[in-house]
Amino acid sequence: MQKRFSIALIPGDGIGREVTPLAFEIAAYAASRSQTALESTCYDWGSDYYFQHGHMMPPDALETLARHDAILLGAVGNPGIPDHVTLNGLLLPIRRAFDQFANVRPAVLYEGVCSPLRSLRPGQIDLVIVRENTEGEYAQVGGFVHERHASEVAVQAAVFTRHGVERIIRFAFELARKRNQKRKVTSVTKSNAQGFSMVLWDRTFQQVAAQFPDIETESLLVDAAAMSFVTRPQSFDVVVASNLFGDILSDLSAAVSGSIGLAASANLDPTRRFPSMFEPVHGSAPDIAGKGIANPLAAILSSAMMLDHLGLPEAAKRIENAVRAVLADGRVRTPDLGGKSTTSEVAAAVRERL
Ligand code: NAD
Ligand code: IPM
Ligand code: MN
Repeated sequence: MQKRFSIALIPGDGIGREVTPLAFEIAAYAASRSQTALESTCYDWGSDYYFQHGHMMPPDALETLARHDAILLGAVGNPGIPDHVTLNGLLLPIRRAFDQFANVRPAVLYEGVCSPLRSLRPGQIDLVIVRENTEGEYAQVGGFVHERHASEVAVQAAVFTRHGVERIIRFAFELARKRNQKRKVTSVTKSNAQGFSMVLWDRTFQQVAAQFPDIETESLLVDAAAMSFVTRPQSFDVVVASNLFGDILSDLSAAVSGSIGLAASANLDPTRRFPSMFEPVHGSAPDIAGKGIANPLAAILSSAMMLDHLGLPEAAKRIENAVRAVLADGRVRTPDLGGKSTTSEVAAAVRERL
């Protein structure tokens, strides 16, 4: 083995605990075939940790994570703890502290998978959402006044900086060039109603677009974009959106591509000052947790995005091809895709293909 990478595993809660170890094992095997060792350290942070310690992760967690090359995360969320406590205690601080400003979320309609949109055939959806991941509607600026009185007031400010908007839009254009598919970037805003933040976004989009004359552009309002994700998902290539809009649209793009159980994502610090974090788009799925039927492919494809980021594109491609082969074959699949297989049977089928 020539290369080594140190990976922080945070399985977290619910189905995150079921899919993350399997995804890591597959990534480690694929990497070993590229003469690279992946070493993992598993952190038992999350809701069980919270029940024991009163916080989701230890106070020095960010320093601990900073020593790793990448983070592979499962999901966070437990019906027994308010979501704003769990998510602001674990996932969101990592995205912010490590300046993982680009949240890259591909949506692909794979061969062997049925879209609920009956006219769509495999290959017709192949888009990627580039979601701003550190500010916008998630800036966590605000507070309560007269808290818990009848007169209480909540203020939740959205924060859009020229720096933050410009860098995510530029990232989207560069990705459209790199993908070299439709060479198109769609910007999604709501500037008809949000007359400051989204106007800044639209203006910045036009300015950055002028520097990429080889890339086609489109600007949509988010309501129309939601409709177009259903009526013409095949027309999108790279879609760039604010934190909240990108979040909502990525569940929609996952659904039209057959299942959220296939949706992978990367939280990238493209400057590589900090470790990037890889996680499925889905959550802890308390409704199916513990049953062994969660689709592990979103986590597995996220681990492939991790290998790509670590400079192992062939290893990443091997995983993606193995996933494609298992889906096209159609025999081994979890219930979200209409099958009867278990989480570990699907992971084993991918491992077998590798
Ligand atoms: P969810 O993504 O967990 O589940 C939505 C639906 O999709 C459920 O019916 C679930 O069974 C199904 N589903 C999700 N992943 C699946 C998979 N791999 N295989 C098969 N079916 C799958 O969203 P939710 O129910 O809104 O949220 C549950 C909890 O997870 C909440 O606490 C929420 O805050 C949290 N959450 C965390 C993350 C994260 O950690 N990145 C993301 C989304 C939601
Ligand atoms: C996601 C999730 C998170 C988000 C939640 C759990 C805070 O929905 O990663 O898509 O909104 O970013
Ligand atoms: Mn989401």
